[in-house]
Amino acid sequence: MSTVLCDLEEITDPGSRQFTWGDGLWPLEFFVVRKNNCVYGFVNRCPHAGHALNWQKDSFLTQENDLIICNSHGARFRIMDGICVSGPCPGAGLKTITIKIKGGKILVEAQELDALLS
Ligand code: FES
Repeated sequence: MSTVLCDLEEITDPGSRQFTWGDGLWPLEFFVVRKNNCVYGFVNRCPHAGHALNWQKDSFLTQENDLIICNSHGARFRIMDGICVSGPCPGAGLKTITIKIKGGKILVEAQELDALLS
């Protein structure tokens, strides 16, 4: 079942926004990035040491807005596929989340997010 995260226009282009899924003890933390009117989704967990990537709310991009950055040790990831291109874990990837855009809304699949919770 598709679930609406937010309106596309609520995220600047380029820009990013974080979300939480599930209300148990360990909810899923994830974020979406909007760039060139495409939207990409990732679990907010760095493949280097498992930390959350951001220190400031909704802030996942470099100053140039060209890459995703982990604030812990500076790993940088491509926006299009979450692969690390510099820093301590080259070639490792962020866990991706399928995003759809329909009628100006950003959608995720509840089933996919539920599976990531376990
Ligand atoms: S935890 Fe992300 S670069 Fe180390």
